Amino acid sequence: MTDYKNLHRHFPADFVWGVATSSFQIEGAAFEDGKGESIWDRFCRAPGAIADMSNGDVACDHVHRLESDLDLIASLGVNAYRFSVSWPRVQARGFGSWNEKGLGFYDRLVDGLLTRGVQPYLTLNHWDLPQALQDVGGWAARDTVHHFVDYARGIQKRLGDRLAAITTHNEPWVIAELGHETGTFAPGLKNRKTAIQVAHHLLLSHGLSLEALRADGCQAKLGIVLNLSSTMPATESSADVAKAHMDDAKTRRWYTDPLFSGNYPQEVLSELGSDAPIIEAGDMGHIQTPMDYLGVNYYTRYVSSAGEPFDAKALGLPVNDMGWEIYPQGLTDLLVRLHHEYELPPVLITENGGAFKDLLVDGKVHDAERTDYIRTHIAAAGAALAQGVPLAGYMAWSLMDNFEWSSGYTKRFGIVHVDYATLGRTLKDSAIWYRCFLADCRAAQLGMVGD
Ligand code: FCB
Repeated sequence: MTDYKNLHRHFPADFVWGVATSSFQIEGAAFEDGKGESIWDRFCRAPGAIADMSNGDVACDHVHRLESDLDLIASLGVNAYRFSVSWPRVQARGFGSWNEKGLGFYDRLVDGLLTRGVQPYLTLNHWDLPQALQDVGGWAARDTVHHFVDYARGIQKRLGDRLAAITTHNEPWVIAELGHETGTFAPGLKNRKTAIQVAHHLLLSHGLSLEALRADGCQAKLGIVLNLSSTMPATESSADVAKAHMDDAKTRRWYTDPLFSGNYPQEVLSELGSDAPIIEAGDMGHIQTPMDYLGVNYYTRYVSSAGEPFDAKALGLPVNDMGWEIYPQGLTDLLVRLHHEYELPPVLITENGGAFKDLLVDGKVHDAERTDYIRTHIAAAGAALAQGVPLAGYMAWSLMDNFEWSSGYTKRFGIVHVDYATLGRTLKDSAIWYRCFLADCRAAQLGMVGD
């Protein structure tokens, strides 16, 4: 049994501990101070797109509450904060003139973090592409790749001297697959060939940005964030094993193979046939540009079945409010597997957490399930570290309840509760646990507790 009391002892003194958010999910101020429309602003208006018919117009009103949110972040005792820049807030159309008011907001955010001793981890693309770029083809158009590189360079020039890290994209699989094949996320397209081309352009724009930022003398560490699961067959039957192999190839290796080995998995290319992406000479070399870190978002395992889909809930396995199975061992399995397959740079767990039905009663939220989720996954991360995985950090998703994409405000992932009527913030028990855990980590660093 894991000794949770001494959990902090599994991690080195320089380990990165953080909380994460993204621009569209928390910022609000959707049409203020020169911000342009994003594809999520547009998508929220499509009938039936969002469970509670909500949008990001106000969200957590973070733009207007920056100072108190910065105090909130610092009060947790984290040494890192992962956030994203809303591209249309700083460049309304995604190209051309820059919006000084938008840039000023991120200036204040970054400076406010540093003043409070928190390292800024910036993501350039957490899905809110300028609608003006979507109007001319979005990620399916190769021109968007070059606009993204210009955007990356502009952000680096303005903020790069004060950032710990710049992530190009958050979860390219989600953008490609959910945004362009199933159509459940913005921009809501449903075409496999388009989705695959989008995936290629995201990877290409990542590689080209790294090259350009390094040529510009960028000091911040550079990487990408992938959503990864440990995929396993439902049974040992050859059909399930074959399905698990293909599912893993399509969702994980489609991204990790090009990034670390410079090629797409052949079995997926064969299955795609004429839907395979257009790849120009030199593209794969750019994609393979070495990274300073790999960001991994882990929520659950994926169980592949050639027959009826695996249903964790029906099987009585523990699930969260999204219906996702709670399976901490999968985090260890995933990280160890990546470590064996590739020469990994340092790995950061850039998102991990769960949605649960929280109740705010007398100013408290007793979210024991979330506390348990975070604690058991931190332990699973420690187990991977002990097996030699170059793990460098962990960030909880999310700092606070926020707009959960097509679920709107119906799912709460925060360790801080947001009352959407008053926009008041309340630390849940999980935040208080995390704060105590981080205090233990710091005390150990300072030699205040014996080994
Ligand atoms: C991830 C997203 C993040 C959040 C969590 C629950 O896929 O990166 O924005 O919605 O899921």
